[in-house]
Parts: sequence; structure tokens; C-alpha cells
Amino acid sequence: MAVGSPENRDTWGSKVAFILAAAGSAIGLGNIWGFPTQAGRNGGAAFLVIYLIAVAVIGAPVMLSELIIGRKTQRNPVGAFKQLAPRSAWYMVGGLGVLGGVLILSFYSVIAGWTLAYIIKAVTGAFRSEIDTAALYNSVSGSAVPAIGWHLLFIVITVWVVLGGIRQGIERWTKILMPVLFALLVLLAIRAVTLPGAGTGLDFYLKPDFSAVTAGVVVNAVGQAFFSMSLGMGAMITYGSYVSKKDDLVSSAAWVTGADTLIAMMAGLIIFPTLFASGFDPNVEGPGMVFVVLPSLLASIPPEPYGGLIFGTGFFVLLGIAGLTSSISLLEVGVTWAVDETGFSRKKAAITLASIAFIVGIPSALANGAVPWLTSIPGIGMDFLTLMFTIFGVFALIVGALFISVFVGWYWGIENAGEEVRANDGKFPLGRTWAFLIRWLVPIALAGVLINTVLQTF
Ligand code: TRP
Repeated sequence: MAVGSPENRDTWGSKVAFILAAAGSAIGLGNIWGFPTQAGRNGGAAFLVIYLIAVAVIGAPVMLSELIIGRKTQRNPVGAFKQLAPRSAWYMVGGLGVLGGVLILSFYSVIAGWTLAYIIKAVTGAFRSEIDTAALYNSVSGSAVPAIGWHLLFIVITVWVVLGGIRQGIERWTKILMPVLFALLVLLAIRAVTLPGAGTGLDFYLKPDFSAVTAGVVVNAVGQAFFSMSLGMGAMITYGSYVSKKDDLVSSAAWVTGADTLIAMMAGLIIFPTLFASGFDPNVEGPGMVFVVLPSLLASIPPEPYGGLIFGTGFFVLLGIAGLTSSISLLEVGVTWAVDETGFSRKKAAITLASIAFIVGIPSALANGAVPWLTSIPGIGMDFLTLMFTIFGVFALIVGALFISVFVGWYWGIENAGEEVRANDGKFPLGRTWAFLIRWLVPIALAGVLINTVLQTF
């Protein structure tokens, strides 16, 4: 088989399998850890409203565009742009994505590593009423050896799943575990909203106060939407490249978007009532907010100590798995690229790229107390993990999505894209709306967001 040729490529077993895998990529720490953290910092309910608008008018059209590029070319992001725009520099957008995936993985697995540590804490009965959750968080994230160790373990697990390939690895796992995660979130949400004092949290989360909305809040909402939906760096191009020509892209994109948004909203419904009921401040907690707030909810579930033990273990096992189905997509982008374009074996590609992510991730692992100058970088004031997140988890995704929208809307063109959507049954529901959004609203909004970010930073 020639390098880069799509023959003999694995495909998803079915449309449902694809939707679950893509939803597995989208649903992860970004929903359960990132969304409440961002909403807490950006005013709560008003952020939620802006977030939902951003998902519908910016995120969803970009999601569909990435899936179209992927299925059309059946290639990795670099190969896809090379095929659709030969002898041009567009392939660099794909290259940015490959790089971005490895760099996002570098800090993503640090946070996911904390969830592994929390599983052990839960199993050994740490979630009881007298728990000091801030001290618990510090013991996990604040010293070098455990932080790096858990980060390494999580990367190793990610490689192990990716080595299984598309059907046997990624697909098999997500199919079972995503529904279980959802059920547990429903249970925890019921528990959270019935806590004494939950009302203040519900008000904060659901009663918008738009007076607090600044340009910065909008920028954060757009960034959060891209991260949460796995957009802007070719993950959905890659996953789309394994979609069969018989499947329907529009409804797939809608399902993935809906599932991702639902889970983020549920996470907010769990975190904010708990946070206010236990007296935390939504605005001051750093990257560990969820890791500090949630254990107090879990510890409150009767009877002691079994409630905390059972629900604590269940929750962090599932959060770890949600993180895993996302981290494999981050690695898969680079692996698909290396296999298609450089002729690396799957194994060699996965191990090489994961090793890079591990090494680059070490400063992020040390950035929550273990090393003071990484915890608050001189002159910047941020911790290293948050800095990496801001550059690669927000900024680079917005740049990537801007290029993707211009590419599909103007360069390759909406006619070609529409033809690919219609390849299965001749239909393109909401095709005109999509074309308008991807040509006009998305690029203009993203350009505005970028200009604003640059102005705010310098
Ligand atoms: N969306 C995932 C989450 O919410 C993280 C993720 C996986 C991601 N793949 C991505 C983010 C690609 C950006 C781009 O946790």
C-alpha cells in the first residue's frame, strides 16, 4: 500500500460507533473540569448563555466542516489539505493541528493523571465528612514525584489504547463507557441540587447577569467551546476520515455537539450547587477547582464511608475514562499523520509522539506547587499548565478553526463541501444556514476574538 493512500483503511463499525467515539473525544476533562472552571471565573449563568450561542453558531458549523474534510479525503489533517489544495501552504493548518494535539496531550494527561490518583484516594476511603479537600488536592498535584508519575501512567494507558487501532481500541471502549458516565452524572446532579444551600449555586449558574459580560467573557466562551468540542486542530478531520461514505454527516455532527453540550451543562449543575453549599468561591479556585469541590459532594453521600467510597470511585473511574477517550483522539491525530505520511508503523508513531508529550508535560506537572517558578511564572503570573492551556488549548484552536472556516467557505468552497455531505442520500439539511455561518459569521467572529486576545495580551 502506497504511503498516504486511503485503501485498506480501517473504518468505524457503524454510524453509532462513530458518534460515540467522536463524542468520546469531545466529552472529557474539558466538560467536567474545564467548563465549570471557566463558568465560575466568567460570571456563571451569563457565561452559560454565551457558551450555548457560541456552540450553536460557531462550534457546530466548524465541527461539520472538519468532518466533511476528513471523510472527503480519508486522510490525516496534513494529507487532507494536501489533497484538496495541492501545491499550496494549506497543509500547514494540518501541521499546526498535529503539533497542537501532542502539546495539548502534554498537559491534558497531567490533569487526567490527577483523576487516577483520586481513584486510589476514593478506594482507600478518603472521601469522608471530615475530609480537607484542599489538602487532598495539594497532596496529589503539589509534589513532583506523584504528579509526574500519574502523568506518565496516564500517557502509557493512552498509548496502549491507541495501539489497538480504530475498531478494537477506541471504538470498543467508548461504546460501553460513555452511557455509564452519563447515568452517574445524572445521579450526582440530583444529589447536588438537593443539598442544603444548593439554591445560591443554582442562581449563580442559571440566572444570568449580563452586566458582567465583557469581551473577555465572550473570548473565553468561544475558546471553551472549541476545546470542549475537540475542534480547530484536526481531531474531527481525523475521526471523520474513518467515517463511511454511507453515513450522514449532518446528524452525526449534531449528535456529537448535543452530547458534548449536555454533559458540560450537567457538570455545571453538579459543581455550582456543591460549591456554594460547601462555601467555596467560584472565582478564585485555580486549575484544581473541580478537584477541590467535587470530593466534598462525594463525601456527603450517605451512608458514611460507603457513599463516598462507591460514588467517589465510580466518578473518578469514569472521569478518567472520559479523559482517556479524549486523550486517545489527541494522540490519534499525530499517529494517523505519521502512519499516512511518513510510513512509520502505528506502534513507532504512537510511542514516539507520546514520549514527546510526556517530556513536554513535565513542567505542567510541576506547575501546581511542586516548583514555585512554574506555579507562578515570573512576569506572567500564571502557572505553566494554564499558560500551555491558553496557548495551545485556546489560542491555537481559534487560529486553526479560522483557517478551516476560510478554507471550506472560500478556498475549497461550499459547493464541494456540500457535494460530500450529499454523498450518502442527496440531502443537506440546514445547508444554507451552514454555508452562511461558515463563510461569514464564523470567520468574522473568530477574527474578532483573535484581535481582541492580541490587544488584551499586549
Ligand atoms: N474535547 C476534549 C475535552 O473536552 C479534549 C480534546 C480531545 C481536544 N481532543 C481534542 C481539545 C482536540 C481540542 C482539540 O476534554
